[in-house]
Amino acid sequence: MTKYRRVVVSQYGGPEVLEVVEDTLPEPRPGEVRVRILAAGVSFADVLMREGIHPETTRPPFTLGWELVGVVDKRGPGVLGQQLGDRVAALSVRGSYAEYLRIPAEDLVPVPNCLDPVEAACMAFVHLTAYQMMYRAVRVNAGDRVLIHSAGGPVGTALLQLGGLSGLEMYGTASQRKHDLVSRLGGIPIDYKAVDFVDEIRRLTRDGVDVVFDGIGDKHILRSYKVLRRGGVVVAFGHATSLIRDGRLTGGRRSRLRGLPTLAGQIIRSRLIPDGRKVVPYSIQTLKRRHPDWYREDMAALFTLLSQGKLTPIIAKQLGLKEAAKAHELLSEGSLVGRIMLVMR
Ligand SMILES: NC(=O)c1ccc[n+]([C@@H]2O[C@H](COP(=O)([O-])OP(=O)(O)OC[C@H]3O[C@@H](n4cnc5c(N)ncnc54)[C@H](OP(=O)(O)O)[C@@H]3O)[C@@H](O)[C@H]2O)c1
Repeated sequence: MTKYRRVVVSQYGGPEVLEVVEDTLPEPRPGEVRVRILAAGVSFADVLMREGIHPETTRPPFTLGWELVGVVDKRGPGVLGQQLGDRVAALSVRGSYAEYLRIPAEDLVPVPNCLDPVEAACMAFVHLTAYQMMYRAVRVNAGDRVLIHSAGGPVGTALLQLGGLSGLEMYGTASQRKHDLVSRLGGIPIDYKAVDFVDEIRRLTRDGVDVVFDGIGDKHILRSYKVLRRGGVVVAFGHATSLIRDGRLTGGRRSRLRGLPTLAGQIIRSRLIPDGRKVVPYSIQTLKRRHPDWYREDMAALFTLLSQGKLTPIIAKQLGLKEAAKAHELLSEGSLVGRIMLVMR
């Protein structure tokens, strides 16, 4: 029986719980395709799932991996859309730290052959998040003024790249060492460790911004709300960053719901108080479930932008499957600028 390798979270915990195991190659069920994976991204959401904090996590043992690019290896009964050998991408949510994965055919998006598979894989989660927040959760217009938190991170840099294409005026909070990157991508950097970003935005803009992208969460959202102009929107898309203290995640599993009461309270409050400002939540998974058509359209739009040279994935390191634990250590240290990609050779 043919075997394949995948990385398993044996129990919730640190990078040491990641184990490479050998398994029997899975057979695709009706409506599914087996994909031979070429590349998968390593993301902060994977770290949260490994720790058992992320809402999409499941009970161990399970395989991590939010995104992939691969090749159609076998079609299950009833699959007509894809041909063997087609290059495809997917938001897998789990399972792409592996050589193969069974996945519903409807979740696959074609990847143009001209694209580098590692670069394309780098688009499928964080760029999709950024794209949908910008053009689905809110519809930005040229000249809009936006504040992007964690602007030097994966989602932040994707927002800056897309915002640059849309002609936005952009401000971004980041540590000092990421300021060059933020400036190069067209943002005005704000050192959130040295200054209060609320004061700084008021000083720089006088009347505030149209949109804040806030992946920090919890009470941070209340401060983001303060810098909105009339008619402005905070897009709240994460709360886990608020759990990082000195580069380490704090709180463990019990903290996974911590930011939600503040978020819910602020959404309700912004609806009850007619001051023209609001908070909208964004979740890539919820939007995919509600609008699978948008998911496919938006990922295809990103691949078009990539093939036109309008987007540049920022990749810090390419590692093999066996190095998944090392990838998580590097990610948690927070010293890398750019993404870590797992490449299956
Ligand atoms: N809702 C969704 O569908 C969705 C999808 C994707 C990601 N997310 C979430 O989006 C967030 C960002 O993801 P990411 O992968 O791009 O991670 P990230 O930006 O790399 O997040 C960690 C970084 O945030 C920065 N940071 C920490 N506290 C901050 C603060 N108070 N103000 C400004 N920056 C701060 C730090 O960067 P510095 O080095 O600059 O200090 C840190 O290295 C995460 O919470 C993630 O779970 C949500």
